[in-house]
Amino acid sequence: MSIHVINLIYLIAASLFMLGIKNLSSPATAKLGNKLSMSGMAVAIAATLASPDISGFTLIIIGIAIGAAIGGYAAIKVEMTAMPEMVALFNGCGGAASALVAVAEFQGTTTGFESFTLITLLLSIIIGGLTFTGSLIAFGKLQGIVSTRPITYPGQQVVNAGIVALTLLLAWLVFQDPANAFAFFGIVVLALGLGVLAVIPIGGADMPVIVSLLNSYSGLAVSMTGFALNNNALIIVGSLVGASGLFLTKIMCDAMNRSLANVLFGAFGKVDDSVAASEGPTGTMKGFEVDEVAMVLESASSLIIVPGYGMAAAQAQHVTRELGDYLSEEGLEVRYAIHSVAGRMPGHMNVLLAEADVSYDQLFAMEDINDDFANTDVVLVIGANDVVNPAAKTNPGSPIYGMPVLDVEKARTVIVLKRSMNVGFAGIENELFYMDNTMMLFGDAKSSLQKVLSALKE
Ligand code: TAP
Repeated sequence: MSIHVINLIYLIAASLFMLGIKNLSSPATAKLGNKLSMSGMAVAIAATLASPDISGFTLIIIGIAIGAAIGGYAAIKVEMTAMPEMVALFNGCGGAASALVAVAEFQGTTTGFESFTLITLLLSIIIGGLTFTGSLIAFGKLQGIVSTRPITYPGQQVVNAGIVALTLLLAWLVFQDPANAFAFFGIVVLALGLGVLAVIPIGGADMPVIVSLLNSYSGLAVSMTGFALNNNALIIVGSLVGASGLFLTKIMCDAMNRSLANVLFGAFGKVDDSVAASEGPTGTMKGFEVDEVAMVLESASSLIIVPGYGMAAAQAQHVTRELGDYLSEEGLEVRYAIHSVAGRMPGHMNVLLAEADVSYDQLFAMEDINDDFANTDVVLVIGANDVVNPAAKTNPGSPIYGMPVLDVEKARTVIVLKRSMNVGFAGIENELFYMDNTMMLFGDAKSSLQKVLSALKE
């Protein structure tokens, strides 16, 4: 197939990717978005295989078979709550693949390089290498294999900056003399080390933001490889991944009211303990029984359900939907309020509620429902903590001060389902649990909801 036809097909693939991303922006069209993106990838792979540069198919077929088997198995087996780990591994693979292709290209070329090609190859190796190891550390932290606490030491940022400077110096030496094998392998080692050292000081709970940032880096590495190989599909796809990963990172940081610099260098999770110890809410916490909660729900006419990380941990999304449907049938107005960083990954609550077949028109983003809490009879908080913590509005000393939160305390009654008085991700107390209009129902969210539903049906 001629290179012109291949480039035309790459353009079709790129259009499918863009349409796919556009459709992913709404739960109603997300499945279509996935299918469009998958078709784009299939078209791009087919065009690449038809390229005149390809001399044999045996290794390619073996590679595709192994990759498809591992990817397919992982996608079927992975739990929704383990999705960030899987994305972290996939990002790492993307970074490693770009870096390996660049190394192979570098080692295999005998005719010398143009300056531009050499720069993009070196960038691909550096960005791809640090994405690989950084993603492995992010995976380890999410899995609890690596300490989820920020690992910090004096002068850490100076050490990291020094490694970046040394890497750039070696890159300059390779640029001057591409045969300088010592400098070349020095770059590879330093890039791999930098990925580890840059991610260890970041707390485990910030990993979703880091995974998104590393996703962006993997896109940049792919794009650089595309420039080096003169492959338009890689350039376009890499740019799309790079840009969308950056946007997602910014959306997450904005929703937590934190800067990217604070996420990267703030060692969040380390300072929290002192804040938690120094500030305790006043008031009396009141624990209630299942029957009392059921009675309050029975006498209500409007209900807003606020899911959080605990709903995901308890896998309570199906029983949540059953309870919501039951109360709707009993005549209550039932809506769901979704905070954009509830849970541990972007869209976490939307994905779980969609899996449980909650109707999209019952789901409301925070900005669309926050004014309605004051006119609502009951709010049912299912395993959410930080996203409903009024300290974000009232306590300038709180680490989450300034983070937009759901105004649940304005409702007539707030029912909170959680297992204990333990803190959430930010590690801070929540005065909501001590307010006069709050009823605490302790226990695993799934089992509590099942009991409440049974009590209502009796
Ligand atoms: P959290 O503040 O983390 O609180 C979750 C609560 O769920 C905990 O207090 C825990 O209390 C409870 N819980 C855990 N397992 C439970 C179970 N089986 N049954 C019942 N309750 C259970 O959650 P959130 O309100 O969703 O806030 C999310 C936090 O994560 C925010 O601070 C956000 O900034 C951060 N974050 C989110 C993201 C994304 S993209 N979503 C990314 C990075 C950081 P008990 O242990 O007492 O049960």
